[in-house]
Amino acid sequence: MPYTADDVSPDMSFLEMLDVVNEGLIVKGEDPIAFDSDCREGICGACGFLINGVPHGPDPGTTVCQLHMRRFRDRDTVVLEPWRARAFPLVKDLVVDRTAFDRIIQAGGYTSINVGGAQDGNAILIPRNTVEQAMDSAACIGCGACVAVCKNASAALFTSAKISHLSLLPQGQVERHHRVTAMVERHDAEGFGSCSNEGECEAVCPKEIPITNIARMNREYFRAMLARP
Ligand code: SF4
Ligand code: FES
Repeated sequence: MPYTADDVSPDMSFLEMLDVVNEGLIVKGEDPIAFDSDCREGICGACGFLINGVPHGPDPGTTVCQLHMRRFRDRDTVVLEPWRARAFPLVKDLVVDRTAFDRIIQAGGYTSINVGGAQDGNAILIPRNTVEQAMDSAACIGCGACVAVCKNASAALFTSAKISHLSLLPQGQVERHHRVTAMVERHDAEGFGSCSNEGECEAVCPKEIPITNIARMNREYFRAMLARP
């Protein structure tokens, strides 16, 4: 359905522009356009839809809440669509149900061992490069753009980021085999497809999570299979 956005400032974020459109619709007694958002700072992962066919829009490494209207020209037509994947059922307009991601995390994206009180930061020495990789993986905000862009609707980048984050650190070693097995099996059970190494997920990820995490997840899974009694 076409909408017109008037009085748009180049400094508005894309979501602020939608807020203005919605205020106009509410004044006219019409239904506002439904979309998700929370932090509007690019850190929570609540926002996300396709803008002219690209998840989160034209700016690389940017969530839609951090995209600004200066990126578009006056009188441009922009086409907005929700994420499309069987595992993300449509709720309304631009809102989809992403609780499948929560269930993948619930399957194993945690450490349940009791490690006592917090230790000094330098008590467990970890190579700097390893820490950097773990923290880069932990940057995933669970937005779902990687699924939306993938022709297989695979959540491999999301799942592998969560697995990598913990498998790289000493605290993640104890439940390592259970974690990868349970999370990969949950991923498949939720209806996400398999990865066929297309790389679109890496290209649209607003946190620039590298596809090398998927190779690490596959190695972890293979290792867990070999360790099975
Ligand atoms: S891997 Fe990137 S695109 Fe996928 S859910 Fe995480 S932040 Fe979003
Ligand atoms: S609203 Fe939180 S990342 Fe966009």
